[in-house]
Amino acid sequence: MKMRLDRWLTTLNVDSRSRVKEIIRNGQVKVDGKTVTDPAFSCETETQHLMLQGRETDGRVMRHVLLNKPAGLLTAARDPKQPTVMDLLPDVYSGIGCMPVGRLDKDTTGVLLLTCDGELNHRLLSPGRHVDKVYRATVEGRLEEKDVRAFAAGLELSDFTALPAVMTILRADDSLSEAEVTVREGKFHQIKRMFSAVGHEVTELHRLSFGPLTLENGPEEGKWRELTEDETDMLYEAAGMRIK
Ligand code: URA
Repeated sequence: MKMRLDRWLTTLNVDSRSRVKEIIRNGQVKVDGKTVTDPAFSCETETQHLMLQGRETDGRVMRHVLLNKPAGLLTAARDPKQPTVMDLLPDVYSGIGCMPVGRLDKDTTGVLLLTCDGELNHRLLSPGRHVDKVYRATVEGRLEEKDVRAFAAGLELSDFTALPAVMTILRADDSLSEAEVTVREGKFHQIKRMFSAVGHEVTELHRLSFGPLTLENGPEEGKWRELTEDETDMLYEAAGMRIK
């Protein structure tokens, strides 16, 4: 991404715009090994090498994060009262505009993608895109084949008809059952509402995958990592986009 040097450093949360200008003018910033003293110097954030006050600095402003969401955090960029998933990441990520893609409920755990690429975020959520999301749900009561058929037929909910979804019963007994469900939409409380429509309340919900992203190679619950190059490629492909 092309950017003036002073904007690059403020985007990275280095300091305020005026303080950043001072740091640059004082000769404390090197771009590709050369000291730059002009705050308006034009830079390429994803490829140029940045040294700040003698320290190597990760200057990328286009980052994609896979978070294994724990229960108890809101999926939001910020909240005045409650902790959010952003609290698990270093400050630089909110500085560069990293945002959750869609939403998991406060008590839902598992795969959550965050990205700085607004277009990718938008495309992955657009109704026509149909990115598969796989959940493991624990529900009250015994799940039966008729419930599997109801999911496959597309359930009538109060404000929309859910697209056909694949539900596999993993375990069923009279008090609790467990199932894996694949949906292509991401409506508010969708999985809980679908189970509720067939008479089963969800007691635990965990997202196993979002499009090509799974937790097979980590991170552990409550931790995050950046996507690998392969994962990034697959994600852009799922969104019908070329990597920037
Ligand atoms: N469906 C839900 O009901 N809750 C989630 O967090 C995700 C999907």
